[in-house]
Amino acid sequence: MGLDLDPRTVVVAERLAGVSRVVGVTGSKGGIGKSVVATTLALALADSGSRVGLFDLDFTSPSDHVVLGVERRFPKEEFGIDPHRVYGIDMMSVAFFSGDASVPLRGEAATSALLELLAITRWGELDVLVLDMPPGLSDTTLDVIHLLPGLEFLLVGNGSRVVIESVRRALQLFAELKVPMIGLLENMQRGADHNVADLATRYGVAYLGAVPYDPELEGALGDVDRLRQTELYRAVSTLPVAGPPS
Ligand SMILES: Nc1ncnc2c1ncn2[C@@H]1O[C@H](COP(=O)(O)OP(=O)(O)OP(=O)(O)O)[C@@H](O)[C@H]1O
Ligand SMILES: [Mg+2]
Repeated sequence: MGLDLDPRTVVVAERLAGVSRVVGVTGSKGGIGKSVVATTLALALADSGSRVGLFDLDFTSPSDHVVLGVERRFPKEEFGIDPHRVYGIDMMSVAFFSGDASVPLRGEAATSALLELLAITRWGELDVLVLDMPPGLSDTTLDVIHLLPGLEFLLVGNGSRVVIESVRRALQLFAELKVPMIGLLENMQRGADHNVADLATRYGVAYLGAVPYDPELEGALGDVDRLRQTELYRAVSTLPVAGPPS
C-alpha cells in the first residue's frame, strides 16, 4: 500500500498537532555522532525548561537509551502509547519494544514500523520533538520528509575526507527536496581545517560551530550528570532550536 493511502498517515498528523517544531538530527554518514547530539540536545532543552520529546528512529541500532542510561521498559498503553518521561524528556524508542533483539527492517516493513510508532505515540504538547535519524538517506529519511511536513533537519558533519562528501550529498538532497535546514554542526573536530564551515557556506546553510573530539564523552554515556559537564552539552545548549522555526 502506498504511504498516502495508508489511513495511519491521517492519525500521524493528529498525534503531532501539539508539537511546535520537529527537528531531525541527521548527516548521512554513520558514526558521526547523530545519536549523542540528538540525545544531549533533548537533555539540554529539557534542562532549560522546554517541553521536549526524543524519538529514536534507528530501528537497527537504537542507542539514545544508552546515552541517557535509561532502562527499556515497555511503554504504558491507553488509547495509544505514552512516551517514557526521563530527565524531563518524553522519550520513545523501538528499543522499548524490541528488548535485546535486533530489528532488521527494509523497504515497506521499515515504513510500516515508522508509521505505526508515529500513529500510536501520544506526544501531547511539545515545544520541540527531536528525531534521532538512522545513518543513510534512504527509507526512514525519505519517509519522515514525506510524513512530517513541518520537519527541519539539523545536520551533523565532520571535516574528514571520508565524511565530507557524504555530508555534501545530504545537503544537496535536502536542498533539492526543499527540506528546511537549521544548519550544519561539526562534531569530533580534530584539526583546524575549515571543510565543514566552507561546505555550509557553499550550500547557504548556517554553520553551527564545532564540538571537539572529547575523550571524556565515553565515560559520560549513561550518566546524565556527567553528560551535562561535557563540551558536547555546552555546544548543543546554544543551538537555535528552542524557539519558533526561523
Ligand atoms: N564529540 C565527540 N567526542 C568523542 N566521541 C564522540 C563525539 N561524538 C560522538 N562520539 C562517539 O562516537 C561514536 C558514534 O556516535 P553516535 O552513535 O552518536 O553516532 P551516530 O552518527 O548516531 O552513529 P549511527 O550512524 O550508527 O547511528 C560513539 O561512541 C560516541 O560516543
Ligand atoms: Mg545513531
